[in-house]
Amino acid sequence: MSELPELDFSSEEYQKHPFETLAELARKWRVARSKRGVEILDYDLCRNMILDRRFGTGHPRLMHLLGLPEGRALNYKRESISFYNRGDKRRKLRQPIARLMSPHASEAFRQDIKSVIADIISDIPTHSSVDLIARLCDPTPSQVYCYWVGANKEDASYIARTSHTVQQVHTRNPEKTPEIVEAFDSLLDYAEARIAAARKAPTDNLISDLVRAADNGEFTDDDLRNWIIKLAEANTDNSSHQIASTIIELASRPTIWQRLGEDPDAIPTAVNEVMRIHPRSISTSREALEDVEIEGVHIAKGTPVFANIGAAHWDERYYPEPEKFSLERGGQPAHLNFGGGVFSCLGRYAITIEVEEVVRHMTKAFPRIRLDKAEFSHSPMFTDVIELRATLAPFE
Ligand code: HEM
Repeated sequence: MSELPELDFSSEEYQKHPFETLAELARKWRVARSKRGVEILDYDLCRNMILDRRFGTGHPRLMHLLGLPEGRALNYKRESISFYNRGDKRRKLRQPIARLMSPHASEAFRQDIKSVIADIISDIPTHSSVDLIARLCDPTPSQVYCYWVGANKEDASYIARTSHTVQQVHTRNPEKTPEIVEAFDSLLDYAEARIAAARKAPTDNLISDLVRAADNGEFTDDDLRNWIIKLAEANTDNSSHQIASTIIELASRPTIWQRLGEDPDAIPTAVNEVMRIHPRSISTSREALEDVEIEGVHIAKGTPVFANIGAAHWDERYYPEPEKFSLERGGQPAHLNFGGGVFSCLGRYAITIEVEEVVRHMTKAFPRIRLDKAEFSHSPMFTDVIELRATLAPFE
C-alpha cells in the first residue's frame, strides 16, 4: 500500500479542479492512497467494491476517530443502521424503510412534494438577488421531512441546521465532536416527541406508517426512534447541497435551462447528468473486513477504503468527454451518487423526485434566471455549495 501514488485532497489542484484532478489520476492509476485510506478510482472497481461482501461499514471506526464520548449520541450511532454489516439485523432494519421509500411509494409523495416546493418558491422575491440556499435549498428537504414526520413547517430550519451539524462527522475532525454530540442529543428528544404525537393522532404519513411497522413487530421502539433521527441526519444536508449544485449546473447553461422549461420530459435525464458530472457524493466509505487484494494491492483487514465516485463518474471509457454536460448520454452505467447494494441510500428515489420537481418549477417559472454568485467547496467526501445567489426574474 505504501507504494501506491498519493492523492492529496488538500492540494490547490484538487481544491480548484476536483473532478479534472481525480480523472487525471484515474487515467494513470486504478487504486491510490490518501491520508484517510485506500482510494478506488476506476468505475468498475468502485462499483464492485461498493457491492463486495468483504467490505463493511466504516462508521464504527469513524466514531472512534472522532472520539464520540459514551452517552446517548454514541448509543444512537451504535444501534442505528450505520453500525451494522451485512446480516439479519441490517436486513430487518432496512426492510420497512426500503418498502416505505421504494420507487412506487416515493412516487406517491410527488404531489405533496410539489406543493411544498410551490409554497417555498412563492415566498421568494423575484426581482432582487436572493440567497437561494436559505430561501430554497435548505427549506425544500427540511420541509419535506416535516411533512414525513407530521411536524409543523416552522420546525424546518431546526431540522436543516441540525442535519448540517451532524453530517460534519464526515469531516473526520474531532474538533467538531462536541457540537455533533449536542445536535444528536437534541434530535433524540425531537424524534421522541414526533413519535409520541404520531401515536396520539395516527394518520397516513410516513411516521405513522413507521409507528405501525414497529407496532407490528417489524422493529423495536428504539429502532423506530433511530429511523426518525436517521431520516433527518441523512436527508437535509445532502439534499440541500444537491439541489443547489443542480441549480448552478443547469442555470449556468441557459440553453439547457430554457429547454427544460419547455420540455419537462427531459428533466430526469438532466438531473441524472448533473448527479454524474457534479455529484454530491465524491466518495463513499467502507472498511476491509478481512485481508483483501485489489489489482495486486494488499489491503489489510481494518483498512478504510473509499469508492471514489468523483473519479468513477469522469471515467472516459464509460462517459466520453466526461467534462461535457450532455443530455444525449445513453446506455452508460448508472451514476454512483447514492452508493449501492445493502448500504445504498434509502432516500434516493424521494430525493430524485425533489430535485426534479425543483427544476420543473424553477425552469418553467423563471426561464431567464440569473446566477449572481455561486461557489463550491470540495472535501474528499462531498461537493458543498457554500454560496448561491440568484435573481429569479431579472428582466421583468
Ligand atoms: C442528494 C441527496 C443524497 C445523497 C447524495 C445521498 C447519498 C448517500 C450515500 C452515498 C449513501 C451511502 C451509500 C453506500 O455507501 O453504498 C447514503 C446512505 C443513506 N442515505 Fe442518502 N443521500 C441523499 C439523500 C438522502 C435522503 C433524502 C434520505 C432519506 C430521506 C437518505 C437516507 C439515507 C440512509 C438511511 C442511508 C443509510 C443506508 C444504510 O446504511 O443502509 N439519503 N446516502
